[in-house]
Amino acid sequence: ENYDHILVERCFPENSDVVGGGVGVITLHRPKALNALCDALFEDLIHAARVLDEDDDIGCIVITGSGKAFAAGADISEMSKREFANAYKTNMFSQWADITKMSKPIIAAVNGFALGGGCELAMMCDIILAGSKAQFGQPEINLGVIPGAGGTQRLVRAIGKSKAMEMVLTGNRINAQEAMDAGLVSRVIDSELLLEEAVKMGYGIAEKGGVAVRMCKEAVNAAEEMTLSEGLRFERRMFHSLFATRDQKEGMSAFLEKRKPNFTNE
Ligand code: HXC
Repeated sequence: ENYDHILVERCFPENSDVVGGGVGVITLHRPKALNALCDALFEDLIHAARVLDEDDDIGCIVITGSGKAFAAGADISEMSKREFANAYKTNMFSQWADITKMSKPIIAAVNGFALGGGCELAMMCDIILAGSKAQFGQPEINLGVIPGAGGTQRLVRAIGKSKAMEMVLTGNRINAQEAMDAGLVSRVIDSELLLEEAVKMGYGIAEKGGVAVRMCKEAVNAAEEMTLSEGLRFERRMFHSLFATRDQKEGMSAFLEKRKPNFTNE
């Protein structure tokens, strides 16, 4: 596939016959605008994510940005022309949430600016890895608006009210280490190694059983939506259902036979 604003690559571990062991890497690529998320870019992104989500050779997706940004937010020049009635009637930016509908895990490898919609996109992913030069912020307040794709919601759940409130009210950015300390990201990795490490983590996930992987993602994400007792029930029912998969038989037999499991994602 050819896209105008993103690059897509399918990566596979060397000398491996793991079923569905590949990692799809999507690179946001509008370097002149710090990968600002114009409508056309987001359309490309959703399309590519869907194609990779349906690709049986791929077990995990990585989203990263080219140059010194992950994404510097929604495209301000495009957005500046919008009016209320049209924004409301078309539910502007609601399509971004399609990223959260992918069933395979998505790792955000944030190598630079993740601002506004860029930070929100990272938070729609399942794991955020920060390169040492990463910066996160919700600067919408400086433009006379507020975050519109999770910056007042997912950020609060990720780092708590006070820190999130400070970020959205001041527009100040936090660096990789601060994001790590706050619990926004799971690791800080040397910038040079970030993508390589993200893909390596992706391979590690892709070699597990694909049904269980998807259920992990679904159950963890349910924790943000449900009460504890509902969530525990949901988790237990999913756990039970995995005993209907071949991968459960294989995984447990392999352990008992002291060998590596050959998951077939069934
Ligand atoms: C459009 C952008 C852009 C953006 C940068 N550019 N961010 N274009 N939309 N969000 C463009 C600049 O206009 C410039 O183009 C080029 O990218 C390089 O940017 P500079 O500002 O020259 O770079 P630098 O001095 O290094 O500063 C980097 C920066 C700054 C701190 C990231 O660019 C910045 O503050 N950007 C805006 C960040 C922001 O406010 N994001 C939130 C957007 S609102 P030219 O042509 O001049 O070279 C949002 C709402 C989300 O995201 C709602 C979701 C539903």
